[in-house]
Amino acid sequence: TPIGILGVPLEAGTGRRGASMGPQALRVAELPERLEALGWRVTDFGDVAPIAAGDVGRLEFEGKTYLPETVAGWVRPLARKAHEVAASGHLPIFLGGDHSLSMGSVMGVARHWREKGRPLFVLWLDAHADFNTPSISPSGNMHGMSLALLAGEKELAPVFAGEPTVAVDPARMCIFGARSIDPGERELLKARGVTVIDMRQIDEHGVSVLMRRFLERVQAEDGVLHVSLDVDFLDPSIAPGVGTTVPGGATYREAHLVMEMLEDSGLVGSLDVVELNPFLDERGRSATVLAELVASLFGQEVMDRPTQAFS
Ligand code: ARG
Ligand code: MN
Ligand code: MN
Ligand code: MN
Repeated sequence: TPIGILGVPLEAGTGRRGASMGPQALRVAELPERLEALGWRVTDFGDVAPIAAGDVGRLEFEGKTYLPETVAGWVRPLARKAHEVAASGHLPIFLGGDHSLSMGSVMGVARHWREKGRPLFVLWLDAHADFNTPSISPSGNMHGMSLALLAGEKELAPVFAGEPTVAVDPARMCIFGARSIDPGERELLKARGVTVIDMRQIDEHGVSVLMRRFLERVQAEDGVLHVSLDVDFLDPSIAPGVGTTVPGGATYREAHLVMEMLEDSGLVGSLDVVELNPFLDERGRSATVLAELVASLFGQEVMDRPTQAFS
């Protein structure tokens, strides 16, 4: 399959500016070229065009929300575009932009896989669970609510009011790398039956056992996997270019192992790369690490690195 890249320069889902520069930084880090070098056919569809918040109209929620109309103005057209790219036979890669964009990217691919009759699983590589709803969110930031919306939480229905929606079964969601979950969020995750693999479990059992367990479930149901990679999954020491750093994240090696296992599984049908904030980055370090990780996910192996390690 050819790869289809879609930029989503959205930053309204966070409390701070800069993530809108993410898609361009990932292009400058040569993410598309790295995939081409691995033999993939890559089409860059450019950036999604949003609907103006004023044209969305006022959305009412039962709790705290920050700029929900702006976010809806991005994720509604994004869901349509994501569906279109997937239906045209491309494997979509979404370059963010903050994590609220996954409301649209995953919604679009979920529509596609429902038409195809394949169960969709979601792997959420993140320090956070992004499972807040307006009534329990401490911040009101929509990037902390995207997974809850995708699980079909009614409180977030206004975001896609009037649009076709498909919920992802929370039992088919796995949050991996968590180390910052809000109290209300924790209860809701438990109630909905989402699998949460926190850093403690990764420390105890290692990435490989835990990943294999999840991938076997996807395989057993003949599922397809959407991977949502939040920069803050990584330890801030290797990826400082993100607004919501949390200490104790995945190491460079752990993250590459996750990517290589995903590649070996052959189950990945789509990918988000989100929350990169180039305004907070150090000389493009985080963008480069992300481009390398994506290359790993699409077949790059240590032995084909263009370095002198074995000469
Ligand atoms: N849980 C916090 C909140 O709801 C932080 C969410 C951070 N999300 C992210 N995609 N970085 O505000
Ligand atoms: Mn996130
Ligand atoms: Mn996060
Ligand atoms: Mn491999």
